[in-house]
Amino acid sequence: MKCILYLTFVLCSNIFVTSGRFLIQDAHISVPHMIKAAGYPAEKHRTTTADGYILQLYRIPGGRREKENFKTSTKAKEAVLVMHGIFGCSTNFLIMGPDRSLGYMLADAGYDVWLGNLRGNLHTAHLNLTRDNPKFWEYSFHEHGKYDVPALIDKVLAVTGLRRIMYIGHSMGTTSLLTTLALRPEYNDRVLAFVALAPAVYFDHMKSMAQVFIKTFSISDFLRSQGIMSASLKPELQDRLVANICSVKHSKDNICTLLLQVIVGEDLEQTDEDVTMQLMARIQPASWRQLEHFGKIALTSRFTSWEGGILGPVKPYNMSNIKVPVLLLYGENDQVAEKSQVMRLARELNTSGIVEDVRPGCSWPKFNHVDFLFAKDLGTLLNRPLLKRIRKLFNKYGLKISIA
Ligand SMILES: *[C@@H]1O[C@H](CO)[C@@H](O)[C@H](O)[C@H]1NC(C)=O
Ligand SMILES: *[C@@H]1O[C@H](CO)[C@@H](O)[C@H](O)[C@H]1NC(C)=O
Ligand SMILES: *[C@@H]1O[C@H](CO)[C@@H](O)[C@H](O)[C@H]1NC(C)=O
Repeated sequence: MKCILYLTFVLCSNIFVTSGRFLIQDAHISVPHMIKAAGYPAEKHRTTTADGYILQLYRIPGGRREKENFKTSTKAKEAVLVMHGIFGCSTNFLIMGPDRSLGYMLADAGYDVWLGNLRGNLHTAHLNLTRDNPKFWEYSFHEHGKYDVPALIDKVLAVTGLRRIMYIGHSMGTTSLLTTLALRPEYNDRVLAFVALAPAVYFDHMKSMAQVFIKTFSISDFLRSQGIMSASLKPELQDRLVANICSVKHSKDNICTLLLQVIVGEDLEQTDEDVTMQLMARIQPASWRQLEHFGKIALTSRFTSWEGGILGPVKPYNMSNIKVPVLLLYGENDQVAEKSQVMRLARELNTSGIVEDVRPGCSWPKFNHVDFLFAKDLGTLLNRPLLKRIRKLFNKYGLKISIA
C-alpha cells in the first residue's frame, strides 16, 4: 500500500509544472546559515539524552545591531529556551523573518535565544538507532518531558553559566515542559517562568475523533503493520508534493492550506501565501505514539501517562509538582488547543502553582493554532506585546538570576 500511495503521488505530481523548486531548496538550508543570512550571529550546540538521542540546539546570542561585542556581553544576558510543537522544529520561530518571528525578536530585545529540538524531528538522531528502526519511534511527549527537555535545559545552563532560564513553548512544546516539571520537580528551580503558547494538554473536544481514528480503527497500528513507522513522508516525496500541490498562490484555492486549516482553525486572512510552501516543506516527522498519547488523553479526559498504552491504566501526571509561574495564551479560533481546554488547564495549575495570567494571545478573533508561529501579522499581533510580557516576567521572577 505504501508503494501504491507513493507511486500515485509521484505520477500525479509529474503532471503538474514544477514551479516551486527554488523555495524548496531554501527550506533545506542549515539553521545557522539561515540565522546568519538574516543578519544575526548563530551557534550550533548539541546534547545527548540519558537514553541516547542526540538533539541539536541553535543559539542566537545577539541581535542584529550587536555585531562583535555580543561575545563579551553574553554571560550576563537573560536566556530563553524556545520549544516547538508536534510536526515542528526550531525553525518554527525563525521562518517569518526578523520583524515577525519570535527567535529574532527576542534576540533584538537583548535576550540570549536558544531554539531547542525534540526527538524525532530532522535535527535529532540517536546514538545507536536509525530512523528505520521501529525502536527509534517508541516515544511520545512523555519522553520529550522526561529526557529531552531536561537535557536541553541543562545544556543551556552549562554553556551560559546561568542558574535559571525562561522557557517558551508552543503546543506540544508546552506539554513537554509540564511533563518535565511533573516527573522531575527539581527542574522547577531551573526555569524562572514559563510562557505557554496554545498549550496542548486537554482535548475533550476531540474525543469523538480520537474514538474513530485510534480506538475503533487503530489506524496507526494498521500503518505500522504496513511498515510505515512514523507520521512522516520520505523527504523527496514531501518536496515533490509541496512543490507541485502546495504551490498554488492563493490560499483559498490551495489544497494544502485548506487541509491544514480544517485541523487548526480557519484563518485565511492571516495566511501568508509567500511562506506556505516553506512551511509545508519543513513539516517534521512525528511518532505514531505522539498522536496516540494525545488520543489517550482525549479519550480519558485526563492528563495521563502512556503507561500500558491506549487501553492501559489512567495515571495522571502530578500537576501539584508544577510550581513555575506560567503565562497561558490561547487563540480564540484554535481548534487544537481550544479555549475551554486551556482554561481548564489554567484552573488546575493554579490550585497549587502560580498562574500569572490566562488570556487570548491577541485580539484577532480568528487566531488559530499555527498563527502563533506563522500569522501574516505575527510581529504586531502577537510578538511585540508578548515581548513586554516577557520583560515583566523577567523583572518579577528573574531577580535571583546569577551565575552558578
Ligand atoms: C549504544 O550502543 C553501545 C555499544 O553497543 C552501548 O554500549 C550503549 O549502551 C548503547 N546506548 C544506548 C543509549 O542505547
Ligand atoms: C503529588 O505531588 C505532591 C507534592 O508536590 C504530593 O504531596 C502528592 O502526594 C503527589 N500526589 C500523588 C498522587 O502522587
Ligand atoms: C489563581 O488563584 C488565585 C487565588 O488562589 C486567584 O486570586 C487568581 O485570580 C487565580 N488566577 C487565575 C489566572 O485564575
